[in-house]
Amino acid sequence: MSDETVTIIDDTTGKKVQLPLLSPTRGPKTIDISALYKELGYFTFDPGFVSTASCASSITFLDGEKGVLQYRGYPIEQLAAQSSYLEVCFLLINDKLPSRQELDDFEYEITNHTMLHEALKRFFSGFRRDAHPMAIMVGVVGALGAFYHDHMDIHNPEHRMITAHRLIAKMPTIAAWSYRYAMGKPFIYPVNSMSYTENFLNMMYSMPSEKYTPNPLLAKALDLILILHADHEQNASTSTVRLAGSSDANPFAAVAAGIAALWGPAHGGANEAVIRMLMEINESGKSLQSFVDRAKDKDDSFRLMGFGHRVYKNYDPRAKLIRVICHQLLNDMESTGEQKKLLETAMALEKVALEDGYFVKRNLYPNVDFYSGIIFLAMGIPMNMFTVIFAMARTVGWITQWAEMLSDDNHKIGRPRQLYTGPIDLEYVPIEKR
Ligand code: ACO
Repeated sequence: MSDETVTIIDDTTGKKVQLPLLSPTRGPKTIDISALYKELGYFTFDPGFVSTASCASSITFLDGEKGVLQYRGYPIEQLAAQSSYLEVCFLLINDKLPSRQELDDFEYEITNHTMLHEALKRFFSGFRRDAHPMAIMVGVVGALGAFYHDHMDIHNPEHRMITAHRLIAKMPTIAAWSYRYAMGKPFIYPVNSMSYTENFLNMMYSMPSEKYTPNPLLAKALDLILILHADHEQNASTSTVRLAGSSDANPFAAVAAGIAALWGPAHGGANEAVIRMLMEINESGKSLQSFVDRAKDKDDSFRLMGFGHRVYKNYDPRAKLIRVICHQLLNDMESTGEQKKLLETAMALEKVALEDGYFVKRNLYPNVDFYSGIIFLAMGIPMNMFTVIFAMARTVGWITQWAEMLSDDNHKIGRPRQLYTGPIDLEYVPIEKR
């Protein structure tokens, strides 16, 4: 923060107002406009929050022009190469890297809270068999609020931490069970001797009738995907969690709202949309170029899913890292038939889009969802589970951002204003006279 100010002159009245100019540790300076309405009687208008910082935060730094992403100051590249998802969770929620003992204790704490209350199991069976697992997840996570009254004083930092641990621990179980229910398969309970990702794969794929050993390669790749998705500052779902939580709503309800926002194909739902698009391309029998041309046609609503990003106007650093794994996995793994064809189409599309002037000019690079969808496909993860895994990874970011908001003594309920464009002062006409 600094003592700099920006002067705004109202040309219509000649009135001047000096507004504080805030300096972040890095990134664009930010005009504090909170006094603008009081001083000049104006609102500001910024649909989609293109130029608006909705809060101050010390969790994640992102530079979309340079393609930089850091959690608590640590570059994503270093965390991806040297850390683990649970260590990143510790870092995000505690604002420091753990000592060996702290990490062991944290892993023990998370591992030992992965079970769900038995009564919660019945919530799953209330859904139709063909329910999307994201719909189940929204419902079940929201329902957690009915189970943990004991630690729901949101103004108590210790309670907030317990809630964070509970959510991180239980999310893989909820995610896997959402899938198992839709498949009509028995729920598999968590196994404490397994790592976070092995345990998730075990709950997804093992059967009580057969021994199952999670593939360490897949567990490792999944761990990396979770690291890359752990937080991403004030994106749509995180802003939703903050807004819902700003009314002092319970954290499970706020996170359920975040899951709902993540589901949309313009956000976390894009990884599923990518694969659906690849299937559409293959099934159509039309050339790849014809789809690229459609994406460029302003009269056609079709977009290349998995390309472009609101903030990254350079290569998304997560996409850079995940791309390497994606190509590695595709080389190492035996993919056959339909799956192989989809993967080939994806790689051809990546090439076309990276070389086509339309995409190059607009900085429309493949984003993290483009590659995560392909990796999930190569891993044999069902399509409707892609966004669920994203939600599982992002839970730590949501809950950390929520806790940061509440720990700020000055936090207020989020209440945007509007530019009203409807009719005014109409005269009510009784129904018989209309
Ligand atoms: N295919 C074709 N053209 C595109 C695409 C795309 N995927 N994305 C953007 N454009 C074009 C737009 O038509 C626009 O062109 P114009 O300047 O000629 O009008 C220009 O690029 C800028 O696009 P905007 O829509 O203004 O960018 P915005 O920041 O609003 O949208 C978004 C970003 C929503 C991610 C968009 O790129 C998109 O819809 N991508 C596909 C969906 C997707 O992959 N979402 C995942 C995002 S990553 C995440 O959530 C983890």
